[in-house]
Amino acid sequence: MSFHPLMDYGKSHHQSSRTLADEGPEFTFTPEHLAKLEDICSRYPAERRKSAVLAALYMAQRQQGYISRNAMRAVAAAIRCTTAEVEDVVSFYTMFYQRPVGRHVLQVCRTLSCALNGAERVTEELQKVLGITPGQTTADGEFSLFEVECLGACDRAPVVGVNDHWHECQKPEDARALVDGLKARGAASLTGCHLDKER
Ligand code: FES
Repeated sequence: MSFHPLMDYGKSHHQSSRTLADEGPEFTFTPEHLAKLEDICSRYPAERRKSAVLAALYMAQRQQGYISRNAMRAVAAAIRCTTAEVEDVVSFYTMFYQRPVGRHVLQVCRTLSCALNGAERVTEELQKVLGITPGQTTADGEFSLFEVECLGACDRAPVVGVNDHWHECQKPEDARALVDGLKARGAASLTGCHLDKER
């Protein structure tokens, strides 16, 4: 699959992050998160406790900002599966970060609908505004930029994931306003074409 001569389709966000998996500091869930996780696990049969893996990973990421290997071990212990099973899930989904990221994570979709509607130009403008390339975080820790595969809003291409939101119908000339708005007002600046991701 190659529909733009300049895009590097061989390097996805999760492939590159997998090789950079961060051991991280010691990790234990907060008592509040553990209680909430127990409540979620109780909704499944005891032998299917690991069905709560996505909820557990979201909690770990909310607590630490990313999913280190130590966090994966804590998740595996909490839902009673192997760390390898947890790692498989983390490395599959681009919404889980395996190393520290910026306060605002921008994920530009580069799959067909978005590519045909100018996603690569959106990425280029974001690179210029932020002074980083995909996979990097700004020195002030404010922004990380990634290219990812389909975010599931193809009819509103090009789409940029902004933390827990989708910002849709992005144009290259919107890049500066998107960054400035996030700096000034965070997610509240995402007016118009945006949706919250379901959790
Ligand atoms: S192709 Fe970009 S959201 Fe589906």
